[in-house]
Amino acid sequence: MEIIIRADTESATKLAAVLIVHALLAKPHTVLGLATGRTMERLYAFLSETNRENGVDFSLAKTFNLDEYVGIQATHKGSYRHYMNHHFFDKINIDKRNTFLPNGTAEDLSAECAEYEKKIREFGGIDLQLLGIGRDGHIGFNEPLSSLQSRTRVKALTPSTIEQNSPLFENPSEMPRRAITMGVGTILEAKKIICLVTGSSKAEVLAKAVEGPITSMVTASALQLHPKCVVIVDGKSASLLKEKKYYDWIFNNEPEWEPYRANKQQDGITG
Ligand code: F6R
Repeated sequence: MEIIIRADTESATKLAAVLIVHALLAKPHTVLGLATGRTMERLYAFLSETNRENGVDFSLAKTFNLDEYVGIQATHKGSYRHYMNHHFFDKINIDKRNTFLPNGTAEDLSAECAEYEKKIREFGGIDLQLLGIGRDGHIGFNEPLSSLQSRTRVKALTPSTIEQNSPLFENPSEMPRRAITMGVGTILEAKKIICLVTGSSKAEVLAKAVEGPITSMVTASALQLHPKCVVIVDGKSASLLKEKKYYDWIFNNEPEWEPYRANKQQDGITG
């Protein structure tokens, strides 16, 4: 795991976007694992901009989202399908037939989960998985005590997640109490992971996830097991990290990060 601390949310988010663009330039038919949530809104705005202004091509990309609520239609404004179309897919030149989310209204939810896993395998697995971290330490909707080997399944949401996400619904009481989510085991099979965490409300959980013990109480801590995971954070979310100087030294000195330092990020978009 590597931790990259950028001064503010804007530069942390931009760096995550640049890394995704570079993965796409290197492999146009990249299979992306995608996340939703407030943190990702700006990231998708950056990526849409690279499509519009720099001609970055998404036409061959395939995407699998981490999760979807159970029991609401894709057309519902609170659904993650709606979120993805609105913030990203409608703004880029992706073929929507290549964008996948679990179907939270499937009659047989277990069969839907097994089918989702199968489809990911059929597409050759996820090349690059994008993640955020919830206030309760979840990745996807892998709430505390999720098995670190779990696969795609239905998960009941914690009160903390309901409190975090219900304001995103026009009528907060409409927020479903269950969701289909990729499992921690599914996520850890991605070839690379970028985790983006911003804001002071995430400082405590970020410190637990990256510097604390691996525990199913904080499923993001399982990212410590992944061989190619980059956690990009802003100054506020990094405020409780103990080894900040070490992380900064790596970013400022290791050759692989040279193109991404200081003001070179913008050049990085067009590679
Ligand atoms: C969303 C997801 C969640 C979010 C997390 C952070 O698809 O899987 O794990 O990434 O809850 O959400 P925000 O960015 O709203 O704080």
